[in-house]
Amino acid sequence: MDTSKPQYYTRTAQILHWIMALIFITAWIIGFYSGNFLNYATDGEFLDTVITLHKNIATTIIFLVLIRIFWRYTHPAPKLPNTMSPQMKVLAHIGHLILYVLLVALPISGCLFSWTAGHPAPVMYLFNLPTLVQPNPKLLAIFQPLHVYLSWFSGLLIVGHILAALKHHFIDKDHILESMTRQPKK
Ligand code: HEM
Repeated sequence: MDTSKPQYYTRTAQILHWIMALIFITAWIIGFYSGNFLNYATDGEFLDTVITLHKNIATTIIFLVLIRIFWRYTHPAPKLPNTMSPQMKVLAHIGHLILYVLLVALPISGCLFSWTAGHPAPVMYLFNLPTLVQPNPKLLAIFQPLHVYLSWFSGLLIVGHILAALKHHFIDKDHILESMTRQPKK
């Protein structure tokens, strides 16, 4: 039984979490679709449109994660419930840390992939991020697989994150999921 007093993320942290979850999962599905189900020989123009959509959505994560890290730093997260073992708490913290690292590394690797291939990194169909690296086939051969492997790893981690949240809610019946959806009663 979880006897600790429920604690909640701030409303700002909750909004950032759910907006980023939506953007991340949408960008992931679109990237996976274009990378594995389309090819230039048969879907040329459509493939371009889909990759452009992927980039325009995904680059927003770079801005949101900076706000989120600042917010996390200035507003500590709720404590984990006392029903969790110290080992599980350490594992949860490591998992969350890796998720933050991926939220930064994945979109940046995508930009590096695009730039080294000679393409822009557009944001919300509004503007392009400044090109920080010139087209370079040698670097492209590094950043392309880096982006793909990081995206697969992040997909696995996100699935684990969702399953863990559901286990806490439905099996352990603690208030971890609610700490990201509710606010304390006044
Ligand atoms: C949170 C952000 C991002 C996520 C979750 C994500 C996810 C993915 C995934 C799952 C793939 C498919 C990998 C595969 O081939 O199996 C992919 C491919 C790709 N991503 Fe991203 N990505 C993100 C950010 C970006 C950014 C910011 C850019 C560039 C500005 C970018 C450019 C690309 C490109 C060019 C491909 C190749 C698509 C293709 O080959 O058709 N990605 N991404």
